[in-house]
Amino acid sequence: MSVPAFEVLRTPRLVLRRLREEDAPVLAAYRSDPDVARFQGWGPTFSEDRARALVHAMRARQPGEDGWFQFAVAHGGTDELLGDVGLRTFEVRHAEIGFTLARTAQGRGYAAEAVRAVLAYAFGPLGVHRVVAGVDPRNERSSVLLSRLGFRHEGRFVESWPEGDGWLDEDRHALLAREFSARATYDGA
Ligand SMILES: CC(C)(COP(=O)(O)OP(=O)(O)OC[C@H]1O[C@@H](n2cnc3c(N)ncnc32)[C@H](O)[C@@H]1OP(=O)(O)O)[C@@H](O)C(=O)NCCC(=O)NCCS
Repeated sequence: MSVPAFEVLRTPRLVLRRLREEDAPVLAAYRSDPDVARFQGWGPTFSEDRARALVHAMRARQPGEDGWFQFAVAHGGTDELLGDVGLRTFEVRHAEIGFTLARTAQGRGYAAEAVRAVLAYAFGPLGVHRVVAGVDPRNERSSVLLSRLGFRHEGRFVESWPEGDGWLDEDRHALLAREFSARATYDGA
């Protein structure tokens, strides 16, 4: 099945689009917020150079190709960058999802709206069968978001990530295409 090149996904309040050069300072700022970075793998800061490198790397990529594609999550009216959602497709019709919202954009249902749009795109046009997410068990807001979206907690990988001198546990959550109810359907490419 051939999927048209990705352009945009729209939800009632948001637009999910490609990252742009001018997003780099905002992306670097919210990813360097200790509250946002705490359970992420990139360390305490995310420099503007790193943000620009991410923007450039995504230019040549399409969602659905093997590897990560990072969707920019922007306000539907102002186009202000609020966060990003990553979709990594791998093997045959499998994918992993990750999500980050600026602290000021949290607590409004934006993450659920954005992730639901990416899931609708993944399970629809991209033909993905199963989406997984890996979360630090202390990351309560992420676990709540995943269960709100219908993900099943399938287990805990004990001491599976090195951190400093120790190890971190990881909770694995999964959702199948047939379990997903696309209440907010995608409208776009
Ligand atoms: C995980 C994360 C994306 C969740 O963001 P979030 O804003 O809590 O998620 P949601 O979009 O589901 O928003 C739910 C909240 O919005 C509230 N809300 C307000 N208006 C709403 C609306 N119109 N519709 C739905 N919910 C709304 C809900 O009541 C809920 O509030 P509560 O948490 O106080 O109960 C965010 O905490 C984050 O970016 N964390 C840091 C990055 C991170 O750790 N990522 C995961 C790595 S695996």
